[in-house]
Amino acid sequence: MKRLCARVHRSRCQSGLHVRERMAFMNIGILGSGDVARALGIGLAKLGHAVKLGSREPQSEKLRAWLSSAGKGASTGTFAEAAKSGELIILATLWSGTENALSLAGRENFAGKVLIDATNPLVFRGQGQLPDLAFGQTDSGGEQVQRWLPAARVVKCFNIVGHAHMVHPSFPSGTPDMLICGNDAKAKETVTALLMSLGWPVIDLGGIELSRILEPLCILWVAYGMRVGSWNHAFAILKK
Ligand SMILES: NC(=O)c1ccc[n+]([C@@H]2O[C@H](COP(=O)([O-])OP(=O)(O)OC[C@H]3O[C@@H](n4cnc5c(N)ncnc54)[C@H](OP(=O)(O)O)[C@@H]3O)[C@@H](O)[C@H]2O)c1
Repeated sequence: MKRLCARVHRSRCQSGLHVRERMAFMNIGILGSGDVARALGIGLAKLGHAVKLGSREPQSEKLRAWLSSAGKGASTGTFAEAAKSGELIILATLWSGTENALSLAGRENFAGKVLIDATNPLVFRGQGQLPDLAFGQTDSGGEQVQRWLPAARVVKCFNIVGHAHMVHPSFPSGTPDMLICGNDAKAKETVTALLMSLGWPVIDLGGIELSRILEPLCILWVAYGMRVGSWNHAFAILKK
């Protein structure tokens, strides 16, 4: 499917990236049925993309409820059906289930495709305690996903903000930035265009190994939230 969608037509976004292209409607497969998958799924379906959420239980009550609010263009399926249908795929699974989800999705279904990795490789330590990172800072989930799927074009994205703010972020104190990284420049252009259509200025930090910097930001986001008792915050890099 390659219909024309809302134009992302800015000669210069706040990050300094030059993005001047038309965003095509896409078939987007989302692996996951949690808060992130459902929030992004609704936001992208509302923009006109055909979105299929993948789950081990595609007929679950929560996905039936999601379908009724997501509207035309939204559907659910198995992990394999979502991965197969997606020209672009979003990975939104619990870290400990991610390798299994990718196996169930069929690794051949990722070859050559842009894969947005929204996961955080968290190890939970108990209520009231900050989670640890499964890889410390000498490796990362983003790099592990790229190693699991060498033929996919992995872009780390969305992991530094709560699901409630992933679509058209709105904060009275200013617009937050989405920080991304990945090895494939064209894939990052596609993701940048998609992000801009969701209301995000984008900063490209570099290769997928920069996930080692982005994933700890999730812990910072959680630490601040626990400190102030609210989850309504996001990061921005101030420039002059
Ligand atoms: N929540 C947020 O605000 C937020 C923000 C940024 C990043 N993240 C990251 O985004 C990812 C998704 O977070 P979430 O809160 O939306 O959902 P989640 O509860 O962390 O993950 C739910 C998904 O993981 C899948 N899953 C769990 N165990 C599995 C297993 N053993 N095998 C296969 N699949 C398995 C579930 O599959 P089924 O559908 O089959 O049950 C479900 O689709 C996480 O890595 C999280 O750290 C979350």
